Amino acid sequence: MTTQRSQWASRIGFVLAASGSSIGLGNIWKFPYVAGKNGGGAFVLVYLLAILLVGIPIMMAEFYLGREGGKDAIGTFARLAGKRSPWCLVGWAGVAAAFILLSFYAVVAGWCFDYVLKSACGALTLVSAGEIASLFGELLSSPGQMIFWQTAFLLATGLIVSRGIQNGIERWSKIFMPILFLLLFYLFLHGLFSSGAAQAAHFLFFPDFTSLTSMGLLEAVGHAFFTLSLGAGVMITYGSYLDRQADLFSMAVKVTSLDTLVALLAGMAIFPVVFSAGLDPAAGPGLVFQTIPIVFSTAPMGGLLAILFFLLLAFAALSSSISMLEVTVAWLVDEKRWSRVKATSLLCCGAFILGLPSVFSFNLLQHWTPVGSLTFFDFCDRLVTSYMLPLGGLAVALYSGWFLKRSATQQLANLHCSASWVYPAWHFLIRYIAPMAVASVFIQQLMTS
Ligand code: PHE
Repeated sequence: MTTQRSQWASRIGFVLAASGSSIGLGNIWKFPYVAGKNGGGAFVLVYLLAILLVGIPIMMAEFYLGREGGKDAIGTFARLAGKRSPWCLVGWAGVAAAFILLSFYAVVAGWCFDYVLKSACGALTLVSAGEIASLFGELLSSPGQMIFWQTAFLLATGLIVSRGIQNGIERWSKIFMPILFLLLFYLFLHGLFSSGAAQAAHFLFFPDFTSLTSMGLLEAVGHAFFTLSLGAGVMITYGSYLDRQADLFSMAVKVTSLDTLVALLAGMAIFPVVFSAGLDPAAGPGLVFQTIPIVFSTAPMGGLLAILFFLLLAFAALSSSISMLEVTVAWLVDEKRWSRVKATSLLCCGAFILGLPSVFSFNLLQHWTPVGSLTFFDFCDRLVTSYMLPLGGLAVALYSGWFLKRSATQQLANLHCSASWVYPAWHFLIRYIAPMAVASVFIQQLMTS
């Protein structure tokens, strides 16, 4: 029995869903922190260049592969390269990366849910910095609380994905994404009128190359990858629901622009408050959960702002986790002929179980370091973001730049596409620049770990 494969109902739905995947904790929580750690402006400039020269070409390649293969990440490589081809491993690695990512992403995203509730109950209003820090510490030291929120987050993700492409992912992205932009813009304006605005703008946009190490340079390329959800089969899977007429270049430009805009808006929303409150821009993972509530606890309408902020973060995380789950669900639905509901339920349970040691990494098992000095949570993060995603992206670039026939990829240009320079530029970037940039990130990570 062959059933009609689902498709996006509209192009804008696709753009919002793909943007929803790329815009996540990476933009709002990680980008400001990594930029802060690497001195700001120069890092931001390199990151923007990496988005332009590496991110856009690889995203186009992933969309293209998905649309040509018309299947999940594994099925796409099997169809294009042959069932027994080693390229199928790229699909497998993508599915595995998405699954592991989901397991620990749900843990951090669960904190956002908790903070929505905390701020709604007024627990973050008019309390001292010390009390806010201990609230965060309390959450981390309570496996029960963390498991509760991790479960709630996975349930929300599963519910949306089980409803399918048009009714689930597309419909919810259309709701989430505009709310997210509105909330972020509001916070951006709030930041703009606070006393730290000028210092924040200088920090983010004035490139001081003396503060950028070679390591920071490569980190900027790596972050471009993570934030655009490349290398995990996400854009291949989403591309497979795309119609043949879609202009992949303009789609990729729209998605990367929205993602970049959100990261910059988030930076301009967070850093002014960091500076006006005299906080450390490189405070790290605790930045969002420990320092932002401190700022909001005393700001006018701070209670409301805190709710808005954590809602925004939860929305962003949800639209990213949806895409991680979809990569794995699509595989079971396409290859194993499972029903969507069955595949979603099983994978959510699996992600829950795999996520448990990540929950315990902050409490019961905080001294258990299975690899080097890394806790289980840190290990999963390192494995996926430093190795699996860059390797997956590298493979996609090599496959589409060197192994696919020009006559095949040329369709990228023929299809109602943009200007005549687009294809040659894409081909050059995907063949030479993208692989070299990604390979250097990977080699650097191997050498420093
Ligand atoms: N891009 C997402 C973020 O910024 C993370 C992600 C990576 C999602 C890879 C899917 C695949 O948070």
